[in-house]
Amino acid sequence: MSTPSSPASAPRTSKLAVIGAGAVGASVAYAAMLRGSAHTIALYDIATAKVDAEVLDLAHGSSLASPHTSPARIIGGDDISCVAGADVVVITAGAKQKPGQTRLDLAGTNVAILRSILPPLLEQAPEAVFVLVTNPADVLALAADRIAGLPAGRVMSSGTVLDTSRLRRRLAERLGVSSRSVHASIIGEHGDSEFALWSRASIGEVPLREWVDADGERALSEEDLARLEHEVAHAAYPVIEGKGATSLAIGVSAARIVEAILSDEHAVLPVSTPLDGHLGIDDVAMSVPSVVGRAGVIRQLHAPMDAAELRKLEASAEALRAVQRTLGL
Ligand code: 2OP
Repeated sequence: MSTPSSPASAPRTSKLAVIGAGAVGASVAYAAMLRGSAHTIALYDIATAKVDAEVLDLAHGSSLASPHTSPARIIGGDDISCVAGADVVVITAGAKQKPGQTRLDLAGTNVAILRSILPPLLEQAPEAVFVLVTNPADVLALAADRIAGLPAGRVMSSGTVLDTSRLRRRLAERLGVSSRSVHASIIGEHGDSEFALWSRASIGEVPLREWVDADGERALSEEDLARLEHEVAHAAYPVIEGKGATSLAIGVSAARIVEAILSDEHAVLPVSTPLDGHLGIDDVAMSVPSVVGRAGVIRQLHAPMDAAELRKLEASAEALRAVQRTLGL
């Protein structure tokens, strides 16, 4: 995941639409406003009082937001025409995990919601790139891709961009380096079967498995790596237990993806789009390192993987296929 040192400057006419004014939707809009990700930010929800309040609350702070760009124009409400002409549509609407539920438990309910909201959104914003944040994000990305019938790459999910941020933070803390110098990614399902691409991970130019502590000993054993990977894959659960949902970190992750699209950055990010024979896998959307720009996902990259990683990628695909079969996808 590339991380520019200053926020990308939003193209003058860029419009971001955020669907759903719950905690996640409001956080996406807030992060995008603070980072200067888009010139206009439209927030849409059917819950009139809630969306109107969130739009006002955001707008009240907009003149104090990003010092790097001119203040975003904040609009929105319960009339779907507010998203008209959007360049990027971020979908956050749907049921959220309750304590004890996995992301995959939400599939049936949230695919049904997607089937009803996607057609009117396509009518309002036919040229948009669609970013699914609602969980299970990979299943929703595949369903949205099939419903929308848009050119390949125009529908993606935020995938493991957030999980990768979680991993980089943990490694940075443990090894005493900046998270910007940690080159490591989580790929696969955005969920319990995700995994770290350890064979490619490095700190600066030093392969992670060769990184030594001050005493000259290897810093992280294979057991340490397995523990870290498990912690990252389950990092959302204590947040859900404590505050009912995760919202702030996914908000900033989605804003980062929006910037890569609107600025045609060609940034490499682990977003999720349908795999079409990539590494022998099809019929699922999953995160692999992908080049993201104005057209959406421009390319999925073939990161070399060792045998264990390839097995994990296949296991992740199978976990998703099992859920998709129950939904007739
Ligand atoms: C997260 O990982 C729950 O998918 C959400 O924060």
